[in-house]
Amino acid sequence: MKTQYYTATSLDGYIADADNSLDWLMQFGEPGESYPPFIAEVGAIAMGSTTYEWLLEHEIYKDKENPKPWPYRQPSWVFSSRTLKKVPNADIHFCKGDVVPIYNEMVKAAEGKNIWIVGGGELAGQFYDKGLLDELIITITPVTLGGGAPLLPRKIAAPPLKLVAVQQYGKHYVEVRYEVAKV
Ligand SMILES: NC(=O)c1ccc[n+]([C@@H]2O[C@H](COP(=O)([O-])OP(=O)(O)OC[C@H]3O[C@@H](n4cnc5c(N)ncnc54)[C@H](OP(=O)(O)O)[C@@H]3O)[C@@H](O)[C@H]2O)c1
Repeated sequence: MKTQYYTATSLDGYIADADNSLDWLMQFGEPGESYPPFIAEVGAIAMGSTTYEWLLEHEIYKDKENPKPWPYRQPSWVFSSRTLKKVPNADIHFCKGDVVPIYNEMVKAAEGKNIWIVGGGELAGQFYDKGLLDELIITITPVTLGGGAPLLPRKIAAPPLKLVAVQQYGKHYVEVRYEVAKV
């Protein structure tokens, strides 16, 4: 099993713009073709509270009269120091602090499948800091944002990431896969 940070970024390295908006990404429609085979191999999910609250506002409760279900069947861990609104019938564990004990819980729950760090970049960085991040799967989009939520606010330079695959999807997306070197 691997711990994977799978996300989409602007060309200048932001996963949300300065207003926490993903409109720049949504203009391209559905997620890339690599998503269905990727999510099929995921057994547990982690995200920070900004990402969770974005999902609540823009997906689940976009139409308040007709809320949508939680989009993931995998158990999910949401990191926050606050008490967040819950989603009915969703397998969500709210957690905080050191990622190591949470990672251990996630590994058990994932039953041999991969762990997906949805974002943001700082949370992916916390897994990286503890030597727990194995792979980056990054869709580069043809936009620049000039600021916003950073893709991965860490210095990873020596050893560098190992490029393992590059794939173009349609007219807009380039997906790059990197392995994180273990030191
Ligand atoms: N482009 C894409 O495909 C993509 C993918 C994912 C997300 N996004 C977007 O990118 C943005 C990411 O936002 P973000 O950079 O703020 O990151 P985030 O990880 O979603 O949220 C950060 C917050 O999570 C909480 N947190 C993180 N680590 C914690 C820990 N160890 N213990 C307790 N709480 C912890 C803290 O908030 P509190 O303690 O105050 O709750 C922190 O401020 C969002 O707008 C999201 O929608 C884009």
